[in-house]
Amino acid sequence: MRFENPIFVTRSTVAPLNHYSKELESVWESGIFTHNGPKVRRFESEINRFLGCDSTVAVTNGTIAIQIAMRALDLTGGEIITTPFSWIATCSSILWERCTPVFVDIDPNTLNIDPSKIEAAVTKQTRAILGVHVFSNPCDVVKIDTVAKKHHLKVIYDGAHAFGVQHLGRSLLDFGDISTTSFHATKLLSSGEGGAVFANGSTKERLQSIRFFGHDPEKNIIDTGCNGKMTELHAALGLINLPLVPSILQKRKAIYQQYRSILDDKVRYQHFSENAYNFSYMPIILDSEKQLLRVIEELNANNVFPRRYFYPSLNTVNAVKEYTPCPISEDISSRIMTLPSYHDLDLKDVTAIAKMVLATL
Ligand SMILES: Cc1ncc(COP(=O)(O)O)c(C=O)c1O
Repeated sequence: MRFENPIFVTRSTVAPLNHYSKELESVWESGIFTHNGPKVRRFESEINRFLGCDSTVAVTNGTIAIQIAMRALDLTGGEIITTPFSWIATCSSILWERCTPVFVDIDPNTLNIDPSKIEAAVTKQTRAILGVHVFSNPCDVVKIDTVAKKHHLKVIYDGAHAFGVQHLGRSLLDFGDISTTSFHATKLLSSGEGGAVFANGSTKERLQSIRFFGHDPEKNIIDTGCNGKMTELHAALGLINLPLVPSILQKRKAIYQQYRSILDDKVRYQHFSENAYNFSYMPIILDSEKQLLRVIEELNANNVFPRRYFYPSLNTVNAVKEYTPCPISEDISSRIMTLPSYHDLDLKDVTAIAKMVLATL
């Protein structure tokens, strides 16, 4: 069966347009479009309520979130231990801050940085560990914290995928010195473009200052900042989409379960922590890159467009000057892809896609 309309790997979930226009009326009335306005402040407090924390600082996107986090912890110029299995933004943020990424290979099951290999990578120049909760699967935050404390390192978690996940009794975005997330259009919670940093106390105040040109609340310049402010328009979009998150999560879970029930043990899956996963992606691991390319070719021929994600392994990209072998990440990157999953993808279509994959295997 060939789909008449293309099925892409994901689609944004948005509330009806009239909800958005209603939310925008007060923006037009006030004439306030940016500068930490009322929508951004409400978006932050609604996220705090949703996640059960008090640490949200909204910013322009999930990439600037990582960069601001690195600035707030004074990491510029140091070595940052990180994972090669992520989106390029994790690595380019490190390079952008004139830091050196030091890649530690991943665990082949969780697909997160392997905590048992971190300590061997620590040098006198190491300043921080930057972990990624891959596809929302929590990093081993306890082990990472132990190594960090022992070597006086800061910890940042890139939780671009991890919105809405609770772990060890609290929001997964409340771990480390700072966590970050993304509200990009493809994420579980979308504000079109957008992101947030999460921290408490003086670190939170510094993050707020850096996103606003280094100003303090009285507009004194106290830091070297940037312009990381979320606009009122993006915050309004986030606000109307936030209440949809629980139902999106349920729908994506149903899709995940449907894929698994059909694909069964014919492909491999990421091992994720039970009850700590938001099902926002449907990654499958094939036997080889050759097999993966065959499956992609077949799906494309049927108007289905999965995505090689994450690919390539970041230790192999040109921007990184020195190559460090990470055999597990390189191997997984070469044969992993994410299948279509979004709120209004019909379970019948999921069944058909899964059967196409099976037929190719
Ligand atoms: C793991 C990871 N980190 C960072 C980002 C960057 O987020 P943004 O697109 O909001 O800049 C992404 C984006 O998809 C991501 O997947």
